Amino acid sequence: AQTQLGVNMVDKGNHRHFMLKEIYEQPDAISHTVSHYLDLANGKVKLPAKLPFDFKSLNRLTISACGTAFYAGLVAKYWFEKYARLPVEVDVASEFRYREPPMDADGLALFISQSGETADTLAALRYCKAQGQHIASIVNAQESTIARESDIVFPIQCGPEISVASTKATTAQLSVLASLAIAAGRQRGTISEAEEFELVDMLAKLPGAITKALASEDKIDQISHALSKADDVLYLGRGSLFPIALEGALKLKEITYIHAEGYASGELKHGPIALIDETLPVVVVAPSDQLFDKTISNMHEVAARGGKIILITDEAGAKSAGDDVSEIIIVPDAHEFVMPIICAIPVQLLAYHTAVFMGTDVDQPRNLAKSVTVE
Ligand code: G6P
Repeated sequence: AQTQLGVNMVDKGNHRHFMLKEIYEQPDAISHTVSHYLDLANGKVKLPAKLPFDFKSLNRLTISACGTAFYAGLVAKYWFEKYARLPVEVDVASEFRYREPPMDADGLALFISQSGETADTLAALRYCKAQGQHIASIVNAQESTIARESDIVFPIQCGPEISVASTKATTAQLSVLASLAIAAGRQRGTISEAEEFELVDMLAKLPGAITKALASEDKIDQISHALSKADDVLYLGRGSLFPIALEGALKLKEITYIHAEGYASGELKHGPIALIDETLPVVVVAPSDQLFDKTISNMHEVAARGGKIILITDEAGAKSAGDDVSEIIIVPDAHEFVMPIICAIPVQLLAYHTAVFMGTDVDQPRNLAKSVTVE
């Protein structure tokens, strides 16, 4: 059966849709989430429960999830590998479970699921349990089956999410994953106390940064009118922003039914460039960073073929983007660590406003369900 959680228990307040309400709840939701995982006064990670495993002795972290939660896992791979030097495997649960991969005993398997009931994610969990893995989960529904069958549960603390397209649960999942990556880095000795302090401070400042990112809503609304005319949209991003490009494309196709694809920017030349002409908008998620020059040359390749670029970037990126860009959506300046969480906001708003402009059923898109408990 496909279930719809809590629709009768929560109302939309002054918002036209649950999705917009949940987008706007993100500063508060993230504030709540991070205060659960961080000791903000002392700049330290404070995990809510004693871990039944030791990050120090782990050789591998295996993450399985579906949909948007899978993309949160992909971002986490960048964080765990960079800050904790811990090798991470991430797979969609439906592939993972049937692939039956070999697993060393005592590894850590982590499952990310808003509902805690997704059939494929649960099956992947049971497979990992049979393989002697420690089982951890990041869920919103603490009474769920995935939570019950886990050795340790990391709740995301964002309140019920009604809209089928996940927004606040995604950024809350990312905030928990970021906190866990810092904890893993400290236990494994790959980040110092001073670095922990800085990273924790960045997470503490996220609610303010998200509020600033929400201020681009009017601009995004205008851009969405042109986007609604497109038959196909390409999303590009690099590094930990690549999964946000994937997430942007997923959100757009889920609620507007426009075909969209996310690609790693460096893969542009290996296929998608063949699609580019004046009818194909390309959303580039690229704050200024060490690889921004490469992104500028990707954008040049797109513009030279008539492609219309919508760039999501920070002030410095906007200044150096040049004439190739048709539209710019500015996000607040921040360290690359927290940028995936901040850049999730404009891709949510872009999908939302395009859907509203097109008149689709934003909260209940066709053929989709909030929780998929069948295979
Ligand atoms: C469904 C929803 C998606 C969600 C996915 C995973 O397909 O439509 O929005 O990302 O399930 O759900 P979960 O509850 O496991 O996070």
